[in-house]
Amino acid sequence: MGAVDQATTGGHLERYEEALARDPLAAFGLVREWMRTEWRALFAELRERRPIFVTPAFTVVTRYADVTEVLSREEVFSVRAFGPRLDAALGGPFMLGRDATAMNWREKGLMQVMLDPRDVADVRELAGSIADELLDAAWPDGRVEAVHALFRPVALGVCARYFGFPGPDQQTLSRWTRAVVTDGFANFLGDPDIQASSVQAGGEMIGYLRDRLAAYRAGLDDLPDDVFARLARSDLPDDRIVINMAGLPLGFVESAPGAMVEAVEQLLLRPERLAEATAAAGDPELFDRYVWEALRFNPLFKLLPRLCERDHVLAAGTPRATVIPAGTFVLASPASAMFDADVVPEPDAFRLDRPGHHQLFFGYGHHACLGVHPARVVVAETVRRLLLRPGVRLLPPPEGRIERAAGIFPDRFVLGLGAEGQES
Ligand code: HEM
Repeated sequence: MGAVDQATTGGHLERYEEALARDPLAAFGLVREWMRTEWRALFAELRERRPIFVTPAFTVVTRYADVTEVLSREEVFSVRAFGPRLDAALGGPFMLGRDATAMNWREKGLMQVMLDPRDVADVRELAGSIADELLDAAWPDGRVEAVHALFRPVALGVCARYFGFPGPDQQTLSRWTRAVVTDGFANFLGDPDIQASSVQAGGEMIGYLRDRLAAYRAGLDDLPDDVFARLARSDLPDDRIVINMAGLPLGFVESAPGAMVEAVEQLLLRPERLAEATAAAGDPELFDRYVWEALRFNPLFKLLPRLCERDHVLAAGTPRATVIPAGTFVLASPASAMFDADVVPEPDAFRLDRPGHHQLFFGYGHHACLGVHPARVVVAETVRRLLLRPGVRLLPPPEGRIERAAGIFPDRFVLGLGAEGQES
């Protein structure tokens, strides 16, 4: 999956159709496997030959114009595909579980104020200092298991100190986010065990936050200036404060390490780009461009799920116009859109001059990422601190293989550090 040049040969559609004629489940499995191993070639073929790919189980949308159409028409393409599971875990409505309700607009606006974009310089420094401490600790070993010894603890540290949500301890908060997010984003078949553990974890999280808010209220005068304290001083009702606070680590603790893993792997797979990036590391603005362009070659979220609420002509007025019937499970692919040559020049080239609106890592439209400002700096600064260390390198499998939970979220990524042959 990490290969720089994925096979560009076609033939996926023929193989899919053959499999479908034999066994629909096998065809579904084939598409899932391709998504892991050869998504770029698969999407290149779909964009060319079947840009709106209708299957009996779902419809995949691959062109930039159509992906942004789906994501900006929340009244047609809703988050009901997963939203109700998030609401169930949190015991009440949350913005990513609802479309265009008054609560949704009000709370997203308010949370954008709470996550003040002017905080980014401090958040960047915070993430960088946590990353450096962790890298110092790993240094004598000559290697680092980047997911649990660097990326997740950075995200959890930012949750603790910027959001004001340390959790009872890092391990517990980490377990809660994994359980809820796995159910929300990877449990499309509705496995009841996964769902139960999500509801359990969400309940524990909400209970913890209620207690923490009560403790804050008891000593309201000397609150730190973190997001929790800002919310506690706002006029948002306590039950809504708690649900919105819970959403912060849910949005962050899985996504940020996931993006870091993919960006680092893609950079390490390109030694010339890596050398340029490390040479540019003194200039974060330039360095960050390497991170985001690297991530384009393997974005964490390749598909965003939506449910079509009413019959809709997608790409109306173009030759690919397609009626999407109500009830269709739609998968919009920002990963594919970012390679659409109609919009993105030379999509297969690694270029540093890509404008921000060609990058869809943080979604688009009504549900575009709430945490985009802090997330951008945390991801880029953590990668920068890592790559500032000498000798960061991929290790051969099995040691260096990226392991993932639920097929998406990285769980293990061992990197070499320092002089080769020094690792213990
Ligand atoms: C400070 C860190 C983060 C926070 C607090 C956060 C929070 C959120 C929230 C609350 C939403 C839902 C917004 C809504 O429904 O209106 C959201 C959406 C999203 N976030 Fe983030 N997020 C963070 C980091 C990230 C990262 C690192 C990525 C990936 C690189 C990411 C990718 C996305 C995407 C793709 C969506 C759209 C989901 C969809 O449309 O289905 N987020 N985020």
